[in-house]
Amino acid sequence: MLIHCLHGPNLNLLGSREPGHYGSATLAEIDGQLAKRGEALGAAVHCEQHNGEGDLVAAAQRAAAADGLLVNAGAYTHTSIALRDALLAAGRPFIEVHLSNVFAREPFRHRSYLSDIAVGVITGLGIDSYLLGLEALVRHLQQRAS
Ligand code: DQA
Repeated sequence: MLIHCLHGPNLNLLGSREPGHYGSATLAEIDGQLAKRGEALGAAVHCEQHNGEGDLVAAAQRAAAADGLLVNAGAYTHTSIALRDALLAAGRPFIEVHLSNVFAREPFRHRSYLSDIAVGVITGLGIDSYLLGLEALVRHLQQRAS
């Protein structure tokens, strides 16, 4: 099983970026934990981070080669129809994740262009949003296959 994990803009700054919202784990630590948990679950996890919307769209298109995706699109979650369309075109199930609880923040973060086409959404649990998202995605893919 192959899972692509897409991280959006500014997530390369994790560790020093607004730790009150995003915690102290770096992106490399998150990717490392995803790889480890993936291994335990029988899934290879390929992670990419992109600051540019077009780069993220291209990564979503490439994810057609994966079985499923974890997507933290950062601010593009709230703005990008292009990313939504790319995920629809890729046609793979994905789980939307956020480190912070977007619903406990500014109103503009309450809207997502991705949630209604995602299998599910996990928000506000820090790094556990990713790890639980991975577990749920693997289970979803296994159930679909059986
Ligand atoms: C985020 C929440 C977004 O609103 C924000 O723009 C981010 C990170 C999160 O993981 O909590 O960049 O996706």
